[in-house]
Amino acid sequence: MKALILAGGKGTRLRPLTFSIAKQLVPVANKPVIEYGIHAILEAGIKDFGIIVLEPDSEIERALGDGSRFGAKFTYIPQPNPLGLAHAVKTAHPYLGDDDFIMYLGDNLIKSSIAELVGEFQQHRPAATILLTAVPNPQDFGVAQMQDGKVLHLDEKPKEPKSNLALVGVYLFDKGIHDSIAKLQPSARGEYEITDAIQSLIDDGLTVRSHIVTGWWKDTGTVEAMLDANRLILEDVETKNDAVCEGKSKIEGRVCIGKGTRIINSTVRGPAIIGENCTIEDAFVGPFTSIDSGTKLVRSEIEHSIVLADCSISDVPDRIEGSLIGRGVSVQRSDTRPRSVRLVLGDSSSVVLT
Ligand code: G1P
Repeated sequence: MKALILAGGKGTRLRPLTFSIAKQLVPVANKPVIEYGIHAILEAGIKDFGIIVLEPDSEIERALGDGSRFGAKFTYIPQPNPLGLAHAVKTAHPYLGDDDFIMYLGDNLIKSSIAELVGEFQQHRPAATILLTAVPNPQDFGVAQMQDGKVLHLDEKPKEPKSNLALVGVYLFDKGIHDSIAKLQPSARGEYEITDAIQSLIDDGLTVRSHIVTGWWKDTGTVEAMLDANRLILEDVETKNDAVCEGKSKIEGRVCIGKGTRIINSTVRGPAIIGENCTIEDAFVGPFTSIDSGTKLVRSEIEHSIVLADCSISDVPDRIEGSLIGRGVSVQRSDTRPRSVRLVLGDSSSVVLT
């Protein structure tokens, strides 16, 4: 069995971050989102990965390499014209050949293991297995209508959803999906929808199994979803403290801190993660915060936030919370007059002052 990871999306809802970093590489608990999917697939015993990217020599390819770091083989498949998930599978057909495959959307995170699902798929040999979960906003997803435990009908982003069961971005297929995709017409949003291709398998009388995901699932396409995913991953963070603690510092709860980091006269209250070579001085790092390597936090407080590498945050008077801060960002306070707010922000940035 092969794996197909889709990492070609542009991440427009995560701008301005995604002007300079692919959304699948934005870290959650200091690890790029896409690596959670890779590890889940590896755990299921699959080592042959096709990764759909926008262009040759993409940032994702440079970040992940040939797969040897993961004990796997990565083949990059450029899809310069992203015309939907089914189109991505069509683009990957030469790589997939007639093999069964698991398709994993590179910005999706699920808590439960997929090893069992892969085993079930190999045992029962359906045409497809889909994952479903109950959501409060089914109109934003593919939605499944069930009857007696069987998938009756699938709709992509229906205005009037017939159930609250959303399609999670993890699918298992045999080679039959390629025939369904060949028959597809573009949807109202102009995309070749994998949801429609699976519906066509059902229409042809083929077996589509479903599995309800009981643990959490996140499509990390928005800032809120990223912060939520960060919170959920940090719930399980393992305590490991390689920091040098100086002065009156307190580390409370489950906290993971990397080598070369100095905690000076500061409180870190977990669950939280702090990378390598950071300086946390006269500061407070509160629950559900991830701070990536090389960042300095001085005379400031932060919680429920993600801060990427090499930032410098000092003398911020109010506690920072619910924030997603990109690489190399500087947030400072100055005593110069007139008292004003000075901003140098990229396109689509968002600032909330209270
Ligand atoms: C895609 C699928 C949708 C699925 C969702 C999961 O939506 O089309 O059926 O529920 O992923 O993340 P998209 O992210 O393309 O809007």
